Amino acid sequence: MERTDRVKQSDLSRFDLSGRTAVVTGGSRGLGKAMALGLARAGADVVLVGRSRETLEAAVAEFRSQGLSAEGIPADVSDVNSIRELFRQVANLYEGKLDILINAAGINIRKPATEYTEAEWDAILNTNLKGTFFCCQEAGKLMIPRKYGRIINVGSLTSSIGIATIAPYGATKMGVVAIAKTLAVEWGTP
Ligand SMILES: NC(=O)c1ccc[n+]([C@@H]2O[C@H](COP(=O)([O-])OP(=O)(O)OC[C@H]3O[C@@H](n4cnc5c(N)ncnc54)[C@H](OP(=O)(O)O)[C@@H]3O)[C@@H](O)[C@H]2O)c1
Repeated sequence: MERTDRVKQSDLSRFDLSGRTAVVTGGSRGLGKAMALGLARAGADVVLVGRSRETLEAAVAEFRSQGLSAEGIPADVSDVNSIRELFRQVANLYEGKLDILINAAGINIRKPATEYTEAEWDAILNTNLKGTFFCCQEAGKLMIPRKYGRIINVGSLTSSIGIATIAPYGATKMGVVAIAKTLAVEWGTP
C-alpha cells in the first residue's frame, strides 16, 4: 500500500461516527439536512428535527433509501416545552445516550431596522437564540453525566460582521457564539 493511501485511510477513520447518536435541529432541509447527511454517512444515528412533519418524513425516507440511519421528530425550537418533549423522546430512543447536537434551526426576516415589529423580533430571537440555548440545556443534561458530548451552534457571517437589514438575525448569530463560548468554559473545563 502506498504511503498516501495509508494516510488517507487513517485520516478517514478519525471521522468514523459509528455508534454515535446525533440530533440536528433544522435537519429536515437546507444546511441542517446537509450536515445531518454528513454525520449519517460517517456512521451516526441521526435524529432530524423540524416543525413540518411532511418535510421530516421526506428527509427520513431519503436518508433511509441511502442505507443511512435516521429518525424524524417534529418539534418547535421556539417553544421550550416542545424542546423538552423532543429530548425526552431522544433519551427514550437511545437510552439517554446523546453524543452530538447541531443547532441549525434558524429563521430570518430582512427589512430596514426602522420597520421591524415586536412579533418579528420575538420570532427570530425565540427560534435562533432561545431555541439554541434550551436545546443546549437539554442536550447538556444528557451529555454531562456521561462526560461526553459535542455541540455545534450554527452561526453566520453576522456572527462576526454587521450586515444591513438583518439586525435581529445578526443579534441572534452573535448570541449563539456567546452561548457556545460560555458553555465551552462551563462544561468543557474539567
Ligand atoms: N443559507 C445560508 O446562506 C446561511 C448562511 C449562514 C448561516 N445560515 C444558518 O444555517 C442554518 C440553516 O439555514 P438554511 O438556509 O439551511 O435554512 P432553511 O433551508 O430555511 O431550513 C431551516 C430549517 O430549520 C427548521 N426550523 C425553522 N424554524 C424552526 C423551529 N421553530 N423549530 C424547529 N425547526 C425549525 C426548518 O424546518 P421547518 O420549517 O419545518 O420547521 C428547516 O429544517 C440557520 O441557522 C441559518 O441561520 C444559513
